[in-house]
Amino acid sequence: MRIISAPDYASMSRKAANLLSAQVILKPDCVLGLATGGTPVGVYKQLVNWYEKGDLDFSKVHTVNLDEYIGLPVTHPQSYRSFMNDNLFNHVNIPIENTNVPNGNAHNMDAECARYEKLIDSLGGVDMQLLGIGNTGHIGFNEPHDRFDTTTHVVTLSEVTIRANARFFDSEADVPRYAVTMGIQTIMKAQKIVLVANGENKADILEKALFGPINPQIPASILQLHRDVTVFADEAALKVIREKHPQAID
Ligand code: GLP
Repeated sequence: MRIISAPDYASMSRKAANLLSAQVILKPDCVLGLATGGTPVGVYKQLVNWYEKGDLDFSKVHTVNLDEYIGLPVTHPQSYRSFMNDNLFNHVNIPIENTNVPNGNAHNMDAECARYEKLIDSLGGVDMQLLGIGNTGHIGFNEPHDRFDTTTHVVTLSEVTIRANARFFDSEADVPRYAVTMGIQTIMKAQKIVLVANGENKADILEKALFGPINPQIPASILQLHRDVTVFADEAALKVIREKHPQAID
């Protein structure tokens, strides 16, 4: 695992975007696993900027998103499909049919989960997976759990996550209670993983995830076992790691 520090959010975003863009340049028909939340917004802005300058071509790229709320209309501004369209897909030359987000409105969610797993496999798997980290240590919407061996599945969101995501909705009551997410096993199959984290409120959980015991109660701790993880974090998010494991930071 590499931990790369950045002085601030803009720099963290730019560095992470550099790695994603290198992936697209080296393998124009790659499969990118994408994430939502506040953290990756700057990464997407940077990718759009380089696309506009003519440095990037997404015409052969396929994408698979980590997760989606259940029961939120796909056109709702806070659906993860809307988020991806607004932050990336509508601004670059990716064919929209190459982009995939789990369907949180499927009649049969078990069938939808199985379809999504199959879809990822049929694309040849994820070349590079972008991740944020939630306050509970979740990746995608994999909340603290008693096991790691999950594939795409339906989850009940924790109170912490509902509270954290309430900032995107009119009120906490409007935040969906359920979501569909790639499982830990699905995420771990990606060839390369890029984790982004910023802000002091992530400092504790980031240290626990990257240096604590590997335990499904801290879902992101499984990343310690992945062979190709690069973490891009700003100094605020690295505060605890900087104190306890300064030698681990590049
Ligand atoms: C959300 C998403 C995650 C994201 C996390 C952190 O609920 N499902 O994929 O990494 O929570 O979000 P943020 O980046 O806004 O802190």
